[in-house]
Amino acid sequence: MDTIVLASRNKHKIEELRDTLAPLGIQLKSTYDFPELEEVEEDADTLEGNALKKACYVHKQTGLPALSDDTGLEVDALNGRPGVYSARYAGENASYKDNVDKLLDELADLPMERRGAQFRTVAAFVTDDDSHTFEGVCRGMIITEERGSGGFGYDPIFLPAAYKKTFAELDSEIKNEISHRGKAIQKFYNWIEKQK
Ligand code: IMP
Repeated sequence: MDTIVLASRNKHKIEELRDTLAPLGIQLKSTYDFPELEEVEEDADTLEGNALKKACYVHKQTGLPALSDDTGLEVDALNGRPGVYSARYAGENASYKDNVDKLLDELADLPMERRGAQFRTVAAFVTDDDSHTFEGVCRGMIITEERGSGGFGYDPIFLPAAYKKTFAELDSEIKNEISHRGKAIQKFYNWIEKQK
């Protein structure tokens, strides 16, 4: 297992994982190295389903072990919505801002104690022999207005538990350490380290 393909076009995700895996002697390729790969429609109704669908497709096309991830924001007062639909919460071509505005509107009358939420990431790793999933959760709450200019998506309205800054205000290194995605990737790292 010397080479892994990450099913992603997100340069930030690719670089970060490349640095993480380098000490294990694992080379990371990405969707950019295989221009023939098509966009996989994320139409499963769970994060697990989407992550596995992407990783299976990339594994099948490249013949290499493939890793992918899918993330959702699960709001307690909305019974876990938008969840797997986080990217298109305000519609098919919604911008990050459209999604944030819709969520703030929906939660408008809720007091702080009822604004609990979590980001959840499922990473899926698929090889010739089998598949594994790794989950990372970051608890926090949805504040009432946007704060901060870093990050992306719902970062300006997500206050991670035990922090006074939103994900968009926090240093990106801190965000990566405590985030849903960071935790899922850490679990993957611990697992793959044992396979070597
Ligand atoms: P993806 O599975 O990483 O593509 O994430 C799906 C959607 O969840 C994105 O379009 C964002 O709206 C949201 N999202 C994922 N990760 C984060 C994050 O770290 N901060 C804020 N929003 C995120």
